[in-house]
Amino acid sequence: MIDLHTHILPGLDDGARDLEESLAMARLAVEGGVRAVAATPHLFRGTEDILDSRIVNKKHMELEKALKDSGIFLDIYLGAEVHIAHNLIELIRRHRKQLVLNGGSYMFVEFPSEHLYRDIRQLFFDVMTEGITPVIAHPERNAVLARHPEMLAEFIGTGVYCQVNSGSLLGVYGSVSRDAAWTFLENRCVHFLASDCHGTQSLPPNLDRAAVMVRKKFGDETARALVEDNPRAALESRSLPFVPDPVIQEEKKRSLKIRIPSFLKR
Ligand SMILES: [Fe+2]
Repeated sequence: MIDLHTHILPGLDDGARDLEESLAMARLAVEGGVRAVAATPHLFRGTEDILDSRIVNKKHMELEKALKDSGIFLDIYLGAEVHIAHNLIELIRRHRKQLVLNGGSYMFVEFPSEHLYRDIRQLFFDVMTEGITPVIAHPERNAVLARHPEMLAEFIGTGVYCQVNSGSLLGVYGSVSRDAAWTFLENRCVHFLASDCHGTQSLPPNLDRAAVMVRKKFGDETARALVEDNPRAALESRSLPFVPDPVIQEEKKRSLKIRIPSFLKR
C-alpha cells in the first residue's frame, strides 16, 4: 500500500516530534503493509510558515538516512497539505514544487473544520488552470461537507478529487466524521484512502485496518484502487485509473438540498 498523506517528517509541524518518533511511525506503517508514504506537512496554516524548501529537504534526507540505517524499507515522497488561502494561486506560482505531490500535478488542499472558503468553486477552477488537480484532504472532517455530501459530489463533478482518512472510517474523530466518510464512499466520491498519521499514539498509521473494512464492504478492486493504484498514479502524475461517477441517493439529495447555505449557491 501507499499512504499518500502523513506527517512523518521529524519536528516540522504537528506530526512526528523527532526522528525517533518518525522511525516508530515508519515501523508501524511497514508492519501494516505500507511500502511508500508521502510526507505531507502543513507548510502554512495561520501563522505557521515553513515554506523554506531547504528545511523540508533536510528533514527528508535525515529520515531517509535513518530508515536506511535502521533497515526499514519505506520509500518517502514529498508533498504538502495546503491550507486553503485567498492568495493560494500566488503561493502556487512562487512555491509550486513544494506544494504539489512529488513535484507533479496533484495537490492536497485542506479546509478549516467549521466552514468552506466562500469562493471555493472559482479557486478550484483557478488551481486547475495552473495545471494542478486539487485533492480535498479529509472532507469528512469539515462540518459543511459532512452535512452536505452532495456538495462534495458537485466538486468532484468539476474534476476535483477526494481523500478520506483511514481514522475517520474507524471512528477516531467521532461519529459525524465516521458517518460522513462512509457516506462519501457509498456515493462513490472517494479516490484516496490515507492515514494522515501524526504520531504513534493518537493518530498512528492505521491504513491497514481501514483498508480491510473497505475491502469487506466494497470489494478488493475498490480497496486496492484507493490505497495502491490511485496513489501510485498520483505520485507519477498520471490520470487516476479509478474515478467512478458519483452517485447520490435521491432521497438524501432531496432532503439535503434545501439546507445548502445560501452564500455557497450561485
Ligand atoms: Fe494532514
